Amino acid sequence: MTDSSDTPERPWRNFYGRRSGKTLRNSQRGYLDADLKALSPGPVDFDENPERRPLDLKALFDDRPVWLEIGFGGGEHMVHMAARYPGVGIIGCEPFINGVAMLLGKIRRAGVTNVAVHPGDVRDLFDVLPAGSITKAFLNYPDPWPKARHHRRRFVTPEHLQPLHRVLAPGAEFRVATDIPDYVRQTLEEVPPAGFDLLDQGGTPWEDWLSTRYEQKALREGREPHYLTFRRR
Ligand SMILES: C[S@@+](CC[C@H](N)C(=O)[O-])C[C@H]1O[C@@H](n2cnc3c(N)ncnc32)[C@H](O)[C@@H]1O
Repeated sequence: MTDSSDTPERPWRNFYGRRSGKTLRNSQRGYLDADLKALSPGPVDFDENPERRPLDLKALFDDRPVWLEIGFGGGEHMVHMAARYPGVGIIGCEPFINGVAMLLGKIRRAGVTNVAVHPGDVRDLFDVLPAGSITKAFLNYPDPWPKARHHRRRFVTPEHLQPLHRVLAPGAEFRVATDIPDYVRQTLEEVPPAGFDLLDQGGTPWEDWLSTRYEQKALREGREPHYLTFRRR
C-alpha cells in the first residue's frame, strides 16, 4: 500500500476541448476495445498511477529513440512518421476519442508496431515521461483559441512548455505547424523563453511532412500553413 504522503496532489486541469463527437461506428468501437490496451505506453492516468511513477520507455520501445505527437487528431501524420521511421518509437496523445478510433484503424491498416497511444491530455503524460526522454515532438495545428481572452488556453503557454522542456532531451527538435498568424506570433513570443532556439520558420513544410486533416481544411478555406522548428536548449 502507498503512504498517502508519497502521493503527489492531483492538480486541477481545465480541459476546454471536445472528448467525443459523433457516435462511433461498430468497427471503431471494436478497435478501441481490442487495441487500446495493447498500445498503452504504461500507467498515465492518476487513478492508475497516483504516485506519478515514470514510464519505462526503454522497455516499451526496446531502447529506440522516442518521439511525441501532441493532439494527433485523426492520426495520419503519426502513422506516416511511424511507417517512415521504423527505428523510432512514437507516443501519440489525443483526448478526442473519435480521433483515437481513427488512428487505431490507420495503425491496423499500415501494420505499424512502433507506436503507443495515450487517449487523453498531454499534461497527464508529461507528468510521467522521464526527464530528457523524448528526442522529437510534433504539435500540428493546435487548437487556435482565436479570442484574445482565450489565448492563455493555447498550448504555447508555460503550463505546457515547461513540462515539454523537461521531457525533451537537450538538442531535441520541437515542430509546430499552424495556419493562424496570431498563433505564430504567440509561438515566437513564448517558446524561446521556455528554453528553445528557433531554427527555422516559413511556408515550406519539412521534407518528411504529411499534410493533416486540419491543414487540408485550412488550405480549402484559403489560410496559409506556417511551419516553425525549434531546438530544445
Ligand atoms: C485543431 S486539432 C488538429 C488535429 C491534428 N493534429 C491535425 O493537424 O489534423 C487539435 C487537436 O489537439 C487536441 N488537443 C487539445 N488539447 C489537448 C491536450 N491537452 N492534450 C492532447 N491533445 C490535445 C484536440 O483534441 C484536437 O484533436
